[in-house]
Parts: sequence; C-alpha cells; structure tokens
Amino acid sequence: MKHVTYHYDKYFELGEIDPNVYSSFIEHLGRSVYTGIYQPGHFAADEAGFRNDVMDLVKELNISLVRYPGGNFVSNYDWKDGIGPKEKRPQRMEFAWSSIETNQFGIDDFYRWAIKTGVEPMIAVNLGTGTAKSAGELVEYCNHEKGTYWSDLRRKNGSQSPYKIKYWCLGNEMECSWQAGHLSAEDYAKKACEAAKLMKWVDPEIKLIACGSSYEMMPQYLEWDRVVLKALYPYVDYVSTHNYNMNAGQGTSNFLASYKQLDEHIKNTEKAIDYVEAKEKEKGKIKICLDEWNVWNFQDIKVDNIEDLLGKTSFEITSAKKWEIAPGILEEKYDLLDALTVGGLAITILKHCDRVKIACLAQLVNVIAPITTQKDGGVLKQTTYYPFQMISKYGRGTVLQPVIEGDTYLCDFGELPLVEAAAVYNKETNQIRIFALNCSQAEDTVFSLTVTGFGQCKLIKHFVLKGDDLKIRNTFEKPDNVIIEEMHISDTKETVQLPKMSWNVLILEAE
Ligand code: AHR
Repeated sequence: MKHVTYHYDKYFELGEIDPNVYSSFIEHLGRSVYTGIYQPGHFAADEAGFRNDVMDLVKELNISLVRYPGGNFVSNYDWKDGIGPKEKRPQRMEFAWSSIETNQFGIDDFYRWAIKTGVEPMIAVNLGTGTAKSAGELVEYCNHEKGTYWSDLRRKNGSQSPYKIKYWCLGNEMECSWQAGHLSAEDYAKKACEAAKLMKWVDPEIKLIACGSSYEMMPQYLEWDRVVLKALYPYVDYVSTHNYNMNAGQGTSNFLASYKQLDEHIKNTEKAIDYVEAKEKEKGKIKICLDEWNVWNFQDIKVDNIEDLLGKTSFEITSAKKWEIAPGILEEKYDLLDALTVGGLAITILKHCDRVKIACLAQLVNVIAPITTQKDGGVLKQTTYYPFQMISKYGRGTVLQPVIEGDTYLCDFGELPLVEAAAVYNKETNQIRIFALNCSQAEDTVFSLTVTGFGQCKLIKHFVLKGDDLKIRNTFEKPDNVIIEEMHISDTKETVQLPKMSWNVLILEAE
C-alpha cells in the first residue's frame, strides 16, 4: 500500500483562517434569486417570500458573507430599479444572461434576507454601464442614517436604521469582453478611483475590493492588477480574483489536481500584490478576495474550455430560450468527482489563509450551486454541499505548515504528494483538524501524522466522502447517494487508512 506522512509542529504556523473564507454568492441569474432564495407563495416561504427551506440549508453551511447582486449581472444593473413598491418596479431586458429581470427583489430585500439568514452582505456596484455617482448614492441609500434624499428614501421604503454594509466590490470582471461596459485596466482604474472616492466620502468605514484580473487567457491578466492596484492603492483593502475549474476531458487525475491550478492562480495574484506593495514600500495591506471559485463544467454553455471564452461577448446557453423570467440555466449537476475536487480546492484556500481573507463559493442556490430547489417542491443537497459544510464547520483556527514525505503521483501539474492536506489547530477545543484528499485511484493510502508540541494526540473522529462510482450524483429521488460518512475508529493512533479517491476530515484531540 502507498504511504504519505505529514509532519506538523505547534510552532510552524501559517496563519489564522478568516471566517470570511466561508462565503458565497447570489447573483440575479437563472433561478438563484427567483424560486431560489425568494419565492412568494411557496409552501416554505415566509411573509417576505424568503424560502425557509433554503435558509435552513444556508445556515447549515455556516456561511459568513454573501456577495450580491452579481457577477456579470451587476455591470448593467441599476439598483434604483429594485427599490420601492414592487408593483411600480420596471421589468427590464437583462443582457448578461439574456433573461428578463422583474426587479421584484432588490437591495432592501437582499439585506433583509441576509439579516434573517445570519450572513453578512457584500455588495458589488455597477462600474460597467453605471457611474461613480450612482455607486456613491447606493452607499448613501444603504449606510447613511437620515436627512438626505437617498437615506430618507430607504426609511420611506421601510428600513429606519442604516444597513452599515461594510464590504463593497468595485465592479465585476471588468477585464472581460463579455462584461457590459468592459474597460481597459487604465480606464477601469480611473473610473474605480472616482467611485471609491465618492463611496468613502459617504461612509469612510467601508472596505473596498478592487476588481482584479481572473483569466489567464485574457491579454491584461496580472498586468491589470499592477495598473489597478497602483491607482487604487489608497482606497482599497482587497483585490478580487475568480477561478473556476472544469472537467473538460483532461482525465481524472488532472481534474482532481485542480487544487494545484488554484494554488498557482492565487500565487500569481499574491505576486502582483507583492510587486505593488514593494513599490509602495508597504507589506500586507492588500488582501485577496477570491470572490468566485468552484467547479463549473459548463453543462449548458457552448464552449469546450474556459479558455474558449476569450473574445466572447455573450454566453451561448443551451438550456433555455432567450428573454425568459428566471430560466433554469447554469444548473450544474455535480457528481462525486466534482465534490472531491471542490474539497481539494477548499484545502488550497486554507493553505493561503495568510493572504486570502474572503472566498465565495460561486454560487449558493441553483446556479453552479451546492443547493438545488424545485419550484413547487423541496430542496436538495448536491454532492458539493458536503465538503464545504465540513470544512466550514471544522476549519476554524490556525493553519499549520507541514513537511511532507511519501508516495507521489504524476499529473499535468508535475509530481504531487498522493495526499493533499491542510491541518488547522483550533485553540478553543484543543483539536487539530486535518482535511485530506487521497488522490490514489488504485488503492487506499496509509496516511500518517506526526504532530509535535501538542503532547499526546488522539484520533477521535474520521469523516469521509467516498464511493465506488465517481459519476454518481444526488437526485430528488435519491438524495443520499453521496453523503459524509463517519468511520469507525479502531485505533486512536495518528495513522489512518484513507480510502482511494476520498476526501477526509480527521479530528485529533491534543493532550
Ligand atoms: O458565476 C457565474 C459568472 O461567472 C459570474 O456572473 C461572472 O462573474 C463569472 O464569469
């Protein structure tokens, strides 16, 4: 049998995990909002139209923060369409996804949903077709107490107290040709600086997220970050980047090793920040907001690879006609292999906990999501629900730096340890929690841990996501095809057998 050992020491700390790395994303896209989180008249909806069945699952996912309202949607969105009496709100053509937007759900509705769900709202402003003035007015509408036109309008619309929304994204994927109002780095930097100025004049307490670059095939990838961060340096605390992994026929090992691609991607953004901070003679000001990450297999988008999006101005979607209200689009069906891959990606995010301070699983409901709803029925936990739920539950504390030895495997990213893992020390419980992806396809792997500085450690729990059929999915008929199982602990020593192709959570109790 193959063997991998991870050595840890109490004093070899990488950094603290920011709870905001367990965040997600709701966009006005398909059935994410309508018949997702919001459906007046549904049997599980409350008086505001919020679906309680969805809310319960969101709570179970331990989500910190939810980004809203887009995504590509935001780059041609006028937030003023979504406030005030619902019968007066305009119905509009929505160009990002070629749908009809009814505006029955807007900023006030989202804020109320977020408060009821117990998540912090993070709002993106339109820096595509929108203006700096409109972005400033949105901050005034949300965060100013009273006595001005926009703050008094919020009060008239039913919210007496200001929302005090802290996190604001300065646009979305502005480097991309498919974005309404797409800009060059230089033009975006100018526009975003003016928006940032106005937004901070209204509320100096807010934290701003610059729109960074995301796609390696884009001509301005990383150069964008240099230009943008240099200009926006005084105003922003974070730079965003997005990363999606696709199972596009590269083979199981290469797809499973997506965690390594994400690792390289984050390192690239770190290097761009380092460059700008070296010039500014400062270190550690700009943090990374990975505000979209997931497996996305483009099951209903006509491209073979994410790289094929280069130069595209729209997405060709096969699952619905154009100009429908809340069409069932981008409703990816995830299998066990996708879930293992998501688990691997989540491990990488922990391994960058010193730099990545916000990370949003994109998205939350129906659209590329761990939660699926039926319009006239219930809710389903997709396979990808489970690794996220487990890591957001147990991944709290300090990440430890490992030294790794043992067997490896070869893939497009080089020679990698057969087990990819991250360990978190949780002071409150005096536990070390290890998340481990066993990439061995042929046989189980013996996984050993040496943990020094914590006294005698005892293995007390082992949870696993595994199965013989990597293509199996959860369905409304068979919702428990893929779930987390708790393994029987026969030996409390720090050596365990990890099933082949499995994602594991091991809990060690320190002395
Ligand atoms: O999450 C789906 C889309 O992916 C978002 O709207 C966009 O930001 C990205 O291209």
